[in-house]
Amino acid sequence: MKKNKINKNYIVFGAPAIEEPEIKEVVKTLRSGWLGTGPKVAQFEKDVSGYVGAEFGMALNSCTAGLHLSLLACGVGPGDEVITTPLTFCATANSILHCGATPVFVDVDLKTMNIDVSKIEKAITKKTKVILPVHMAGRSCEMDKISKIAKKYNLRIIEDAAHALGTEYKGKKIGSLSDLTCFSFYVTKNIVTGEGGMVTTNNKEFADKIKIYGLHGMSKDAWKRYSDTGYKHYEVIYPGFKYNMMDIQASIGIHQLKRIGKYDKLRKKVWDFYNRELASLPLILPSPDEPNTKHAMHLYTVLVDKERAGISRDQFMQELHLRGIGTGVHFNPVHLHKYYREKFGYKPGDYPNAEYIGERTVSLPLSSKLTMRDAKRIVGAIKEILLNKKIRNLI
Ligand SMILES: Cc1ncc(COP(=O)(O)O)c(C=O)c1O
Repeated sequence: MKKNKINKNYIVFGAPAIEEPEIKEVVKTLRSGWLGTGPKVAQFEKDVSGYVGAEFGMALNSCTAGLHLSLLACGVGPGDEVITTPLTFCATANSILHCGATPVFVDVDLKTMNIDVSKIEKAITKKTKVILPVHMAGRSCEMDKISKIAKKYNLRIIEDAAHALGTEYKGKKIGSLSDLTCFSFYVTKNIVTGEGGMVTTNNKEFADKIKIYGLHGMSKDAWKRYSDTGYKHYEVIYPGFKYNMMDIQASIGIHQLKRIGKYDKLRKKVWDFYNRELASLPLILPSPDEPNTKHAMHLYTVLVDKERAGISRDQFMQELHLRGIGTGVHFNPVHLHKYYREKFGYKPGDYPNAEYIGERTVSLPLSSKLTMRDAKRIVGAIKEILLNKKIRNLI
């Protein structure tokens, strides 16, 4: 059988740093025999909720599951509308559809790439139940303004913080500000559990609901039904889902979280280096942080405008790939995906800012595993691509 060869020099986009403590912890968990949801998940929930300053944390198998259950906890169902951004991963909008509700998109601000708060009120109807902002790339949305609108129209707020573990808004960490916040620990995120997510909240009723919905809708004690305290009978009180996180995953997350500060510093160094080195090139770089906020620096996204750069975004990505550098696109706007076009009749031109970004955006490597040596190689390659007339003439 032909083996897929892995090129060791290839810089894989979003590669996580997996270190000895989590490897040992996973082995310990495997040896313990308790692979499912148990004490490690409880510990990870305590650690993450403590880190973001929320009362409750409910670990799940993905951020997508978190979004779905958060919407259900808010009572979102058929006939309801949820306001969100088109410049996001499909999971944000899909989770709204999973509840039988309709996503209502509001275009983004060109500079922040976050939902344009000034356009939210116009999108509110009698059917609106929730505002679901996404902290794009780790940059905080304008939470005060969103809260004000939500209060005025009696709406709930669910934050998609898949990129935003560590993001701060006015001195507070994202995760403690609104009704519900959903984080992702997918392999490319600031800290990882392989697959994994968590919802944080200060609302006990929401916390209980999510915990129960996440494990088949079984009554709370069912989480412990096979523990050393003896078998517990359970009752199904909602038709729930199988969304629970395993102790194997939490074993990774517990140690990753301990190093979040160290990883932040590493990414900040690369971020500043990119800012300095790419400033004179024909690229549009991330705009500076808004006052009173801290960017989680999850994605370093540049815009490649063909007229300005002399090369299209896709060609730019291909040239980097040929030099052994992986990149990402965050995002092709959701409304232009086939299902959304066909189901809702969306077309190009509906959300011009999201589309402008979607056509030009490319995320450069910026993960915990990335070294300054890698970053120098990436910058060297970008300079070669953008400044080398020979390549440009071929394009
Ligand atoms: C903005 C956004 N929301 C939600 C998700 C879904 O996260 P998960 O893969 O943990 O379900 C992602 C994943 O990349 C994302 O980028």
